[in-house]
Amino acid sequence: MEIEQILVERVELVDSEMPELLFEIKPPELAAAVAYAIESKGKRIRPALVTLACEAVGGTARDASFAAASIELIHSSSLVLDDVIDKSEKRRGKYTIHKMWGTDMALLTVQILAALSLRIAARDPRLIRAIADSLFCMGEGEAMELVDYAKDKKSYLDLAFRKTGSLFGSAAEVGAVVGGGDESQIKNLSQFGKHIGIAFQIRDDILDCISSEEDLGKPVKKDLFMGRPSIVILDALNSGISLERMMKCNNGELMHLVSDSIDYADRIAHEELELAKDNIETLDDGFAKRKLIELGEYIIHRSK
Ligand code: IPE
Ligand code: IPE
Ligand code: MG
Ligand code: MG
Repeated sequence: MEIEQILVERVELVDSEMPELLFEIKPPELAAAVAYAIESKGKRIRPALVTLACEAVGGTARDASFAAASIELIHSSSLVLDDVIDKSEKRRGKYTIHKMWGTDMALLTVQILAALSLRIAARDPRLIRAIADSLFCMGEGEAMELVDYAKDKKSYLDLAFRKTGSLFGSAAEVGAVVGGGDESQIKNLSQFGKHIGIAFQIRDDILDCISSEEDLGKPVKKDLFMGRPSIVILDALNSGISLERMMKCNNGELMHLVSDSIDYADRIAHEELELAKDNIETLDDGFAKRKLIELGEYIIHRSK
């Protein structure tokens, strides 16, 4: 089975957990904003990770569907908040929540999505700690972006872990927990998730330079124009290319100007994938382990 097919299949599992959550939200304007956030579906990479981690320790994908839904809701909540902070008007090819309902309603949507996530996770209280840890880290990571924290590879990787790797780590962790993994399997899968999450963020930085709003469904070159830390821009600056020069580029020109830095970022993404793979070396070989590795490969080569 191809990884794309797994992503589609796991969407159905997660969706089966969602409907009961929505009918009781009041007032209707808030309910509409929350439903809009849930119904505009992304790639669902984190649910695929949750369910594959569960299968890797002997559980079934269905055992992990509630955990996958919980993680995807935290992810959605972080995107609604991120779009407010980044003043982004497009997400998943549609207008963002704050653009449609205003910033105040968007912030309340963030709160409700996080509450729905916790409500689902409370079915197995062991999940709450993992989710709290990544919520905490994502807050730190987003704040680090605002204060120009990332200045070199080390501080960038710290930021990318907090902003993105932490939730991937929790996704793999909760999957392993509900699958009945032992302590070392849970720890190893959590580290696997963390490293592919960092690789995911690096690929996101690359796509921000080389892709288009049409393909990604969200604004591009925003790292450059919003002054957001990106490993590509950071390396280009370190190699003497000025921000002014980068900002003057037309579509297509930027990726040529910073092509060495894109290669550099790609090498770090590969390094992170290798670190991820090292952490699951001791897991039994089989379908789930193979698909976890394929998921990692997909993440560093994806075009959206
Ligand atoms: C976007 O995540 C946010 C980052 C961590 C860069 P995804 O690219 O997984 O978003 P969706 O869910 O597919 O829209
Ligand atoms: C996404 O961050 C939000 C989180 C990871 C919490 P970015 O601002 O870098 O990503 P996009 O491009 O808006 O998805
Ligand atoms: Mg953003
Ligand atoms: Mg952001």
